[in-house]
Amino acid sequence: MVMSNGSEPPDRPTTRVIALLNQKGGVGKTTSTVNLGAALAEMGLQVCVVDMDPQGHLSLHLGVDGETVGETVYELLLEPEVELDQVLVKVRPNLSCLPSRVDLAAAETELAQDPDRHRRLQNKFADGLRKFDYVLLDCPPSLGVLTLNALSMAQEVYVPMQAHFLAMQGVGKLFETVGLVCQGVNPDLKVSGVILCMHEKLSTHVREVVGELDDFFEEHRGSPLPWADARVLRPAIRKNIKLAEAPSFGQTIFDYAPWCPGAIDYRKLAERIVSGHLEQPVPASTDGRATSPGPGPGKVMVEIDLDTPDEADASADDEPAAASPDPDPVVAGSLSVEPRSTPEDLDGRPDH
Ligand SMILES: Nc1ncnc2c1ncn2[C@@H]1O[C@H](COP(=O)(O)OP(=O)(O)OP(=O)(O)O)[C@@H](O)[C@H]1O
Ligand SMILES: [Mg+2]
Repeated sequence: MVMSNGSEPPDRPTTRVIALLNQKGGVGKTTSTVNLGAALAEMGLQVCVVDMDPQGHLSLHLGVDGETVGETVYELLLEPEVELDQVLVKVRPNLSCLPSRVDLAAAETELAQDPDRHRRLQNKFADGLRKFDYVLLDCPPSLGVLTLNALSMAQEVYVPMQAHFLAMQGVGKLFETVGLVCQGVNPDLKVSGVILCMHEKLSTHVREVVGELDDFFEEHRGSPLPWADARVLRPAIRKNIKLAEAPSFGQTIFDYAPWCPGAIDYRKLAERIVSGHLEQPVPASTDGRATSPGPGPGKVMVEIDLDTPDEADASADDEPAAASPDPDPVVAGSLSVEPRSTPEDLDGRPDH
């Protein structure tokens, strides 16, 4: 990347390389990569988003047609003479993209015999990394060579997921994979947290699952595991139809509907990721519980929600799920989900 005055860009003190990973499909990996990337770029940071998925959805979301763009991640990984700058596409101010198309799927088999196959991406970034403050890697919904390339290069993993019982089934397996990668190719890799996507805040079940995730991470705090510092990131990204519409226009949420709930959530999450304050502060209260400004009549559920009260009404264009009766205890992968006795129990949690 050459600056507008033709000079080389300054070295970044540190580049954060983040993989958005979940082997489950359709959980919000691409939506989060695009919109977090765009939010970081909007803050003036230099950002590169990498489409590691042969589906090419990240590229399309940013208005880049992988079929016609020229060199893509496939050539970057497979062809020794292709360099990073040949593949980078400047898609917005401060935001560059490494696009992909369907032929990337062949890389899985074409690289199979190369003992150093998992370091291909990292090697191509070697000198280019310093151009960026953030590199966000959109992983495919599988745990093959492409994902391994992302995990070998990343410092952090964020796990987009829905707070549903079935969605949690694979999370234990996912953490196992990260653990194996740490033992093998990238000992410094850490899970920074879970991004709750398509969040439906009024569902009791959703609250229970979030509570269980919070507890799971608290239990491992201080351990030598790669997820010892992980947390459920706040705010949750509310279910918002605008986030689903934006890709069909090749637009980020900030192009398409910059003040819709989805844009507000991603902007706020990006600010927290940059500041390192991944949880909202817990306001002091006399009974030791988290509190929030008075919700007003009929808004008790909003008060104990993951979102700040001022955001709670902004999701009016989405249908909130109705509060459901407590289900039986269930077990999801290595994470068990116990029903909580009353909504008040949840009120004891931080005001997320
Ligand atoms: N907060 C949200 N509200 C509404 N729709 C959403 C939200 N987040 C994502 N979506 C939609 O859900 C679908 C799946 O999202 P996305 O493509 O980001 O998931 P993914 O994990 O990248 O999927 P895949 O595993 O196939 O790559 C898309 O149609 C997307 O537009
Ligand atoms: Mg995707």
